[in-house]
Amino acid sequence: MKNSKTYALLFSTVIICITLFCCTKKVGKNPLLAYSDLALFDSTNNQNYKYYKNKPDTLLSGIHGPHGTFKLRFNSIAYAVLTDAGKLPLSSTFPEGSFIVKDVYKNNQIDIYAYMYKHNNTWLWGEVKSNGTFISKIKDGQNVCVGCHSQTGNRDLVVAFNFY
Ligand code: HEC
Repeated sequence: MKNSKTYALLFSTVIICITLFCCTKKVGKNPLLAYSDLALFDSTNNQNYKYYKNKPDTLLSGIHGPHGTFKLRFNSIAYAVLTDAGKLPLSSTFPEGSFIVKDVYKNNQIDIYAYMYKHNNTWLWGEVKSNGTFISKIKDGQNVCVGCHSQTGNRDLVVAFNFY
């Protein structure tokens, strides 16, 4: 009797574990909580982000950068500080948790997302294909992205403000 109870308990525990394992939805976490591919990809494709100067239909030429035609989006933390005619005021910095996404277009579709994410007072940089495959993911302060983004006129390393 005692044994069968133990077995029943064991059996239901296993079933619960299997159910939990199989049914847990694979969603990314808030990037403030995790620096995982999934969390970052979730953020890049977040449809609630606001478009630069509130113009979702404007495709920008991208002739000054390496990526080509693009649209620019900001999460609410970043968008809140764009108080200089839609730009970050000179000598200001983006707050912790700011997320900026460059939707890079190819044949009228988003091909890659290039992003900057303010985490622990520094930008994390990366590029991820629209299917979720990462091309680059860079944590350290000095890198190829920073090298070019440090150009004259940058505002907290953001350079689109120079041209658009
Ligand atoms: C050779 C210069 C250059 C390099 C290298 C470069 N960028 Fe940029 N990036 C630009 C320019 C210029 C813009 C402004 C938009 C445009 O004209 O393309 C830009 C725009 C962006 C933006 C939109 C925010 C902003 O600063 O305007 C993101 C995000 C971005 N780049 C990410 C990256 C990442 C990630 C890398 C490295 C993997 C990278 N960039 C490397 C020149 C560069």
